[in-house]
Order: sequence, then structure tokens, then C-alpha cells
Amino acid sequence: MRWTSPVNLFRRTATCATEVAGRRIAEGDKVVLFYSSANRDADVFADPAAFDIGRDPNPHLGFGGGGPHFCLGRRLALLQLRTLFGQLADRAPGIAPDGPARRLRSSFTNGIERLPVRFG
Ligand code: HEM
Repeated sequence: MRWTSPVNLFRRTATCATEVAGRRIAEGDKVVLFYSSANRDADVFADPAAFDIGRDPNPHLGFGGGGPHFCLGRRLALLQLRTLFGQLADRAPGIAPDGPARRLRSSFTNGIERLPVRFG
């Protein structure tokens, strides 16, 4: 979730004046949260550009920041992903990319539309 950051951004409207990291935000301002950027924050993650499946702790924001908009479907999403990768590891342990990925053209979500694979 940290590495891929499937949701790139969300825009929110400030309900009151506040300050974030020294920047003043007025009530009614539109604020964009870049989850992919937060998930590469060098103040939070050591070696943020490295793919490390064993990161612990891994305080990623891929499902949001834990506030009132925290992703309602995260448990379902995690269950689906765990099942998918578990099945792939059991049934196709040698699966590997076999060509370039065709990426989704979207500023909102970071996704792959097509990825050729081979079974080892
Ligand atoms: C890998 C899959 C998913 C990712 C990366 C993801 C990511 C996110 C993110 C970043 C937010 C915004 C959180 C915030 O602003 O703090 C969000 C909100 C939300 N997500 Fe997900 N989500 C995923 C799957 C799902 C699924 C499967 C469902 C429903 C079955 C779902 C339902 C929602 C809903 C309803 C909200 C809005 C909550 C609110 O505004 O109160 N999500 N999600």
C-alpha cells in the first residue's frame, strides 16, 4: 500500500482555519492530499524510495490519515489483496512480468490496466 499508493490524491475543503507544516489554510480553502507523496516522506520512512516488504512499522497513508474520512473499505481491500497474493504465491510461485505494463491514464488512481506475465 505504501509502495503503490493506489489512490494518488483526494481534495478536501477546510471547515475551519488551520495551519499545516507552517502553511496557513483558511476556512473554505480547497486542499489536496497527495497520498503517494506522504508515503515517500523521508521524515517518516527510512530509505523511502526502496521497496521493502518487511517494513515495520509501516505507517503508510494509502487508506487515508485515520480521520473521519478514513477508508471504509480498507478491511475488505486488505482481505482481497491478502487472498489474491496468497493464491498467486501458492498456485503460480514463478509468475513474473513478461513485458511492459500499460498504466491507467488517471490523476486520481495509480493503476495498471494490463500487464503481460509468464508462469515459471
Ligand atoms: C486498495 C484499495 C483501496 C484504497 C487504496 C483506498 C483508499 C482510500 C483513500 C485514500 C480514501 C480517503 C481517506 C481519507 O481522505 O482520509 C478512501 C476513502 C473511502 N474508501 Fe477506500 N480504498 C480502497 C478500497 C475501498 C473499498 C474496497 C471500499 C468499499 C467497499 C472503499 C470505500 C471507501 C469509502 C466509502 C471512502 C470514503 C470515506 C469517507 O469519506 O468517509 N475503499 N479510500
